[in-house]
Amino acid sequence: MRRFMHLVGCLLIGAGALLSVPALWAADVISTAAKDQASRPWMNKSLSPVQRANLLIKEMTLDEKIVMMHGVSPIPVKGYVGYVPGNARLGIPALRLADGRAGVGNGARDITLLPAPIAVASSWDLGLINEYGKVLGQEQWAKGTNVELGPTIDVVRVPEWGRTFESYGEDPTFNAQMAVAEIKGIQSQGPIADANMYMTMNQESNRFKEDSIVDERTLREIYFPPYEASILDGHVGTLMCAYVKTNGIYSCENPEILNGFLRKLLNFDGWVMSDWGATHSTIGSVTGGLDQQMPDDTFYGAPLKAAVLKGDVSVAALDEHIRDILVPIFRQGLFDKSQPGNWEANVRSPEHDSFSREVAEQGTILLKNDKNLLPLPAKSSIAVFGTAGGKEPKAEGGGSSAVVAPYIVSPLEGIRKRAGALAQVLYADGSDLNAAAKTARAAEVAIVFVHTDETEGDDRPNLKLPGAQDQLIAAVAAVNKKTIVVLDTGGPVLMPWIDAVAGVIEAWYPGQEDGNAIAAVLYGDVNPSAKLPLSFPRSAAEIPTAQLEQWPGVNGLSTYSEKLNVGYRWYDATNTQPLFPFGFGLSYTTFKLSNLVVAPAKLDTQSGLARGRVRVKLNVTNTGSREGAEVVQVYVGQPAKNGEPPHQLRVFAKVQLKAGETKPVSLLLDDRAFSIFDASLHHWITPDGSYEVFAGTSSRDLTLHARIAIGQTR
Ligand code: BGC
Repeated sequence: MRRFMHLVGCLLIGAGALLSVPALWAADVISTAAKDQASRPWMNKSLSPVQRANLLIKEMTLDEKIVMMHGVSPIPVKGYVGYVPGNARLGIPALRLADGRAGVGNGARDITLLPAPIAVASSWDLGLINEYGKVLGQEQWAKGTNVELGPTIDVVRVPEWGRTFESYGEDPTFNAQMAVAEIKGIQSQGPIADANMYMTMNQESNRFKEDSIVDERTLREIYFPPYEASILDGHVGTLMCAYVKTNGIYSCENPEILNGFLRKLLNFDGWVMSDWGATHSTIGSVTGGLDQQMPDDTFYGAPLKAAVLKGDVSVAALDEHIRDILVPIFRQGLFDKSQPGNWEANVRSPEHDSFSREVAEQGTILLKNDKNLLPLPAKSSIAVFGTAGGKEPKAEGGGSSAVVAPYIVSPLEGIRKRAGALAQVLYADGSDLNAAAKTARAAEVAIVFVHTDETEGDDRPNLKLPGAQDQLIAAVAAVNKKTIVVLDTGGPVLMPWIDAVAGVIEAWYPGQEDGNAIAAVLYGDVNPSAKLPLSFPRSAAEIPTAQLEQWPGVNGLSTYSEKLNVGYRWYDATNTQPLFPFGFGLSYTTFKLSNLVVAPAKLDTQSGLARGRVRVKLNVTNTGSREGAEVVQVYVGQPAKNGEPPHQLRVFAKVQLKAGETKPVSLLLDDRAFSIFDASLHHWITPDGSYEVFAGTSSRDLTLHARIAIGQTR
């Protein structure tokens, strides 16, 4: 049984011509042990990464610097998706970059396919996502990767977004905490993590040209916090700038969001690489704040060298970019340790197989369970439906995060194995609705597996299940009252059949252990404890970005007119009832929250809790008859004059409880929990006033409520 983190802090406030490559670059320097520290003073480990970078920069020729500022294409070694040659003369390691949101990507074999990031996020368990990062980092490192392209941390604004499954959800504080935990996990195993895609990357429909029109307050309150936390708390080594434009300027040459937000505001000392093909200029990008072009040298090879020689880019400016690249490489120890891994290595292990299963179990959300139909009695005869339930399990999303699965246990296999000899398990793929209805009649319980095919490069046209899957559910439910729908989707779907079915489970893209994990949840070997990290709408019209101007945009402009009202904030602000709200998820047991006490926090510098402002205490009780875990969610409602959405998630904790057990929960809210971004002053302010603190088990089930005066109590 995993340990849950009981105390979770709130978001801390806080073409040119090809450059000729000298022979020395050809070496793929993996081991960079210092030959002679006297001639290579930057190899002195007692110096800081910045000191070491500065010493090295002094020794680098212009050609050597230019080489570090772009990838090479084609890649001269097997595997990876990005490559920067090493430098044998100076001991600089080659950079080998690989995708990896749910496992090592780019066609790598013999790796573990984990559930999609949206699934692990649904566990609301920061310890679990930290381990998820560790498994990814460990497998990448053993594959020879030293820069892992992940995690994807953008706030999901558009439910149809094709990369929703790659990210965590629709709340900035939630995404920030998930990102920090995953980045720390990845970087603890060797590779430098790369948080992406910076910034306002919220659609695929027009991703190479789209211009996100978004005001400063919304940027700072909604879209920036995951990046801010990744830098300040996660110490991420790199960011990937996105394809899209933000307010008229491509992300990879946008001085406001690169130089301004990252450097001036946060003192980010890592590097910004472009998404693949997202660089659009040489001088504009260098001055805007892009450190490295990926995957090739069209702008940052010969044209950059020419710009330096001509004096259009100063050597001092170039050196700043080189420093940005070198500092995380030094900090991560890549100069100091050898990396024996290689792309052909088999990095699988029984531990990682079972971890993949654990994540799938912990990320599966029970959305509906009429009359406690679930967990299934061992002896019920079952009929399984849908291609995703049988020969074509939908275990992962597409695009650059796609992984070559070592195996996938289909739901049918998993359920048959779990049912054993005790119960008959029938199957129909659903292509013939009459045949499906006949099979449904023959079993006590019908389980329909439906799916979406979500991928980078494409948004879904709408939130309907594709093909005839809605009809399949309706046909089965019409003849079998005990119908359960299992969703293998990467994001929300509409459920026109919701009232006709007895149960609904969101299993996401569950990875290689798909069938074993869903069987464990269906039969109650695992008590579901996951919660939605995004809202499920009731209808196509009732979503925050329903207007064409918002998504996919008109004339290339996508207007963020909903401003702060992203996700549940919009449902609450407009009094719109979602089908299933943010934070919602059922269990096979029941919980009750009680005794909310909200008081000013004592600032304790010793404990590292100095930034805590308000302490929230409450009790959580398991009122049912079996062990389970509940996610305690604390939301803050600001005074109306602050102009904020009705209430916003600020802190959460997952608590494991035996039947009948009560545990105290104590959480801290920091300054940011009570702040707003003042766009006229360009900084955060905490207006005096009476603030509401809500505690509950979903954004729409906030059973406890208290007020606290902010300002006068300072
Ligand atoms: C994606 C990135 C990915 C890169 C390399 C791009 O299309 O947007 O997320 O890391 O390709 O595969």
